[in-house]
Amino acid sequence: MTDDETRPRSQDAARPLWHGRIPGAPADDLLAFTVSLPFDVRLAADDIAGSRAHVRMLTGTGLLTSEECSVVLAALDRVERELADGAFAFAPSDEDIHTAVERRVTELAGDAGAKLHTARSRNDQVALDLRLYVRREGAALRRRLIELMGVLVQRAADAGDAYLPGYTHLQRAQPVMLGHHLLAHFWAIARDVERLDQALARADVSPLGAGALAGTSLPVDPDAVATELGFSSRFENSLDAVSDRDFVAELLFVCALAQVHLSRIGEEVVLWTSQEFGFLALDDAYATGSSMLPQKKNPDVAELARAKAGRLIGSLAGFLATLKGIPLAYNRDLQEDKEPLFDALDTLSLAASALAGLLRTGEFRTDRMTEAADDSLAAATDLAEFLVRKGVPFRDAHALVGGLVRQALERGVTMEELVMTEPALGPEALELLGGGGVSVTHRTSPGGAGPERVAEQLLAATARLAELEGPAGEVGS
Ligand code: ARG
Repeated sequence: MTDDETRPRSQDAARPLWHGRIPGAPADDLLAFTVSLPFDVRLAADDIAGSRAHVRMLTGTGLLTSEECSVVLAALDRVERELADGAFAFAPSDEDIHTAVERRVTELAGDAGAKLHTARSRNDQVALDLRLYVRREGAALRRRLIELMGVLVQRAADAGDAYLPGYTHLQRAQPVMLGHHLLAHFWAIARDVERLDQALARADVSPLGAGALAGTSLPVDPDAVATELGFSSRFENSLDAVSDRDFVAELLFVCALAQVHLSRIGEEVVLWTSQEFGFLALDDAYATGSSMLPQKKNPDVAELARAKAGRLIGSLAGFLATLKGIPLAYNRDLQEDKEPLFDALDTLSLAASALAGLLRTGEFRTDRMTEAADDSLAAATDLAEFLVRKGVPFRDAHALVGGLVRQALERGVTMEELVMTEPALGPEALELLGGGGVSVTHRTSPGGAGPERVAEQLLAATARLAELEGPAGEVGS
C-alpha cells in the first residue's frame, strides 16, 4: 500500500473531498440536503467504466505508470465486485457515487489510487456517467417499445376480418378494421422509437477531459477516452461539455410523449373493457379485482398507463424549469437531472411492458364490435359518396343524407325505408346499408381503414418493425 499512511488524503472516509480548503466539518443538514448517493448509486457501473478508461488514458499520456495503472484497475475491479455483491461499505462522506468509488479505490490502491482523479472533475465525470447510463438504459427501453410494437402488429394480423366502429368525438363515425385501429397505435410508437434513437444519437458525445469547466494544463487525450468508451465523438467546448443536459431534456420529452401515446391506448382499453363497450375482455393475469365489489374485473394496468403520463409530463416541465437560467458552467442545480430521468425511463419501460402483456393476452370481443359497427347510420358517408359518384355535389349529398338521418331519428323509421323511397338513392344504394362489414370494404383509399389497404399496411408495419429491430436497434446496446 502507501509508503506514508499518515499523509492526509482527501479520500478519507470521514472527510469531504475539499477538506484542504474547508477544514470545518459539514453540517448534518448540508449533507442530508445535498447528498445524491441514494439515487446516483445507479451510475456505479458507468462510473467504474469511465474510471477505467480515464486511468488508461492517463497512463497513455504518461501521468500514471503502467504499474500504477494495473493497481488502480485491480482496485476498480474489486470495487465493482463489492458493489455487485453488496459488500461495499459506504462512508458518511460519500456524497455521491463518484466520491464513494474514488475513496474506496484510494483505500485499496494508496498513492496510485489517489491519482485516479488527475485531470478530471466530478463535473465532466457525472456528465460522462449519465451519458453512459442513458446509452445502456435507453437501449433497454427501446427493446420494451419494440416488444409492444410487435404485439400490436401480431394482434393486427390475427384480427383478420374483424371491424368495429371508428369514432370521432367518441361518437360512432365510420367502421374501421380492427387491424387498422391497432396499427394506428403501432405507428405512434414507431415514431417514439425513432425519436429515442435521435435523442440517443445526440447523447453519444464524450464529455470526459473537460475538467471542471476549462480543460486542463495536464496532458490528456479526450479522443482516446471517447473511442475506448465507444462514443462517436468527444466534446468541442469544455464549458458546454459540463453544462449540457439537452440530452436529458430530450429524453424526458421522448418518454413523456411515448407515455402520452400509452395513455391513449390505456384510455381505450378502459373504454373497451367497460360493459358499455364490451369490445375487450382482459386476461386474468392483467386484471385486478375489487376489495369490496365481488363482481369487478378492473383495468388497473390501463388506468396507470394513462395516469403515468401526467407524471412524465411533470418531470419534463420541472426539469426544463430547473435548466432555465443556469449560467455556465456546472452548477449544483444540474444534480436534479437524475431522478426525473431515471424515473421516466423506468416508468415508461414498465408501462410498455405491462401494456404489451395486456394486449397480447386480451380477448377482442369481435361479436360486440360487429354489432356496434353494423349500425345503419354508420353508412351515412357511404350514401353521400354514392351520390357523389352519380355527380351530386358533395355538399348537397351531405345535406340530403343528413336529412334522412334526421328523419330516421325523429320519425322512428329505418334508414332502409328512407333510402328505398328517396329517388336519388333507391335499391342500388340499399346495398350500402347491408351490414356484415360492407361499409368498411368501401374504405379503399391509400392508408384507409378497409381490408385491402389494411393488408398492405400490415406488410408496411412488419417491414418497419424489422428495420427498427435491425442494425439501428443496436444503437447504444
Ligand atoms: N453529484 C453531483 C451531480 O450529480 C456530481 C457533481 C458534483 N460537482 C460539484 N462541483 N459539486 O451533479
